[in-house]
Amino acid sequence: MANIFNINNLYYSYNNNDKEVFYNLTLNVPKSGLTVISGDNGSGKTTLCRLLLGLNRGYRGSIKLDGQELSNLKQEAILNSIIYIKQDIAGSFLGVTPEEDLSIWQNRFQTEDSQEKKTERKEALEKMGIISITDTPIWELSYGQRRKVMLSALALFSEKYWIIDEPSASLDSKGIRFLLNIIKSKITTKLGCLVLTHRTELFNDLCLENGTAWKLTDNGQIEKLF
Ligand SMILES: Nc1ncnc2c1ncn2[C@@H]1O[C@H](COP(=O)(O)OP(=O)(O)O)[C@@H](O)[C@H]1O
Ligand SMILES: [Mg+2]
Repeated sequence: MANIFNINNLYYSYNNNDKEVFYNLTLNVPKSGLTVISGDNGSGKTTLCRLLLGLNRGYRGSIKLDGQELSNLKQEAILNSIIYIKQDIAGSFLGVTPEEDLSIWQNRFQTEDSQEKKTERKEALEKMGIISITDTPIWELSYGQRRKVMLSALALFSEKYWIIDEPSASLDSKGIRFLLNIIKSKITTKLGCLVLTHRTELFNDLCLENGTAWKLTDNGQIEKLF
């Protein structure tokens, strides 16, 4: 099976004299299906996302994206094949409303829009069950609602591999159902997704169907759960 990421003997620490977040970690992430990586708070889930996106540089060892060493790739090249939904809600919104925010994701600040794109955005918001807040200013939304807006952007990028950091944080049970449905349909396509979470149990069924679950360990490595 083809891999989207090949991580080999990865070492990483924020400052040279700090404890290493990753110590000789090796992991292959397949292109298709669901990959779940769990771990306690502080185990390195967000750090791993940032390394895979090229946002944290200066690792030792090797991280290959589609066979190319990540340290040689520009940010744009990485973002051409990956969409990353951050754990942090603060600072994640560019638009005043969900509708406008999704249109910025689509159009990247270019001015032309289209009816087609508008329909796509409507469907994206529907997939997270938040059509009723389409035009509500973001600052009036709860954290859970904001998380749903962030997650709805995934539906605009079916042609990319998804990396989602702590997607279930502050979601209600309805939101979690919508999220699982979106992931379920994603992993029936050629390109799957990577979910980083401290709540593996939510994703057990999907993993058993079509995926693999891993856990970051205290010593900076990773072990297979199932
Ligand atoms: N910007 C940073 N500077 C220094 N240390 C950091 C930074 N971000 C995270 N860390 C440290 O790296 C470790 C892993 O953090 P993180 O990747 O956020 O874990 P998780 O997402 O699994 O909760 C923690 O010990 C954390 O304190
Ligand atoms: Mg985190």
